[in-house]
Amino acid sequence: MEEEIELVLDKYRGAGRILAEVREEAKEKIKEGVLLLVVAEFVENSIREKGGEPAFPCNISRNEEAAHATPSIDDKTVFGKDIVKLDIGTHIDGYIGDSAVTVDLSGDNDGLVKASEAALNEAIKIIRDGVSTVEIGEVIENTIREQGYKPVVNLTGHGLMRYNSHAPPTIPNVKYEHGVILRENDVVAIEPFATDAQGAGKVVESGNADIYSLIKAKPVRLREAKKLLEEIKKYQGLPFAKRWLPRERLDLALRTLENTKGVLRDYPVLREEEKGLISQAEHTIIVKEDGCEVTTKRIV
Ligand code: CO
Repeated sequence: MEEEIELVLDKYRGAGRILAEVREEAKEKIKEGVLLLVVAEFVENSIREKGGEPAFPCNISRNEEAAHATPSIDDKTVFGKDIVKLDIGTHIDGYIGDSAVTVDLSGDNDGLVKASEAALNEAIKIIRDGVSTVEIGEVIENTIREQGYKPVVNLTGHGLMRYNSHAPPTIPNVKYEHGVILRENDVVAIEPFATDAQGAGKVVESGNADIYSLIKAKPVRLREAKKLLEEIKKYQGLPFAKRWLPRERLDLALRTLENTKGVLRDYPVLREEEKGLISQAEHTIIVKEDGCEVTTKRIV
């Protein structure tokens, strides 16, 4: 049993190590005038070259966008003076690493970037066997507010399980009355989001989705939709990008699956309700008896 746990944890560690390397390399590529698509493809290809698989499409969310933005097919968007959230997922055999950084190309939002980084660091300091998610939420909220910013209340950290990138428990970024106790060898992602004075501290769905996941395969008649369904089964329920799919009659096939109830889940872009700027910091950790192990830590 002990051995089995270690084998599994080693896969989480391997996914985390790949992620850390790719994240640090990708950060350097985020510059004004560079195509978002170039960075996303660099991330996803590098993960595969290093022996992992993307656990979800590379998320590149800018400014008031918080999450779930990824380049579309043939996307021509380039970076401007943006606040860029790069959120990466990797997996080995279904065991996931999930980590995000904010790159500030605007040059004057250092405080906002630091607020979510500090909140993540303070949270990591208190995590050990027996810690409550209530305490984690409280530390995150207090740290962000102390720096003069607001936490985003409806985005949370989460558990990670095999082929499940958003498993229980929910780990709030603010203090809630009820929570759960984390136990040794739980694997969770901590991800504080902060916004500025303009922000409501809340995100809403906006625009179209470029990210989907398979809920359940159901019989469809259209030949193209059948083929597409077979294709997306290989992601084993993990999110995938529209641009990863075969192009042939893709819109028709995808629309057919979207219109068949209970087959696909889509992930519309989440943006700040009052269009406040958003920063994010995220690491995956393994809870230990007296502390925690950060699997996605930068390796120096
Ligand atoms: Co996450």
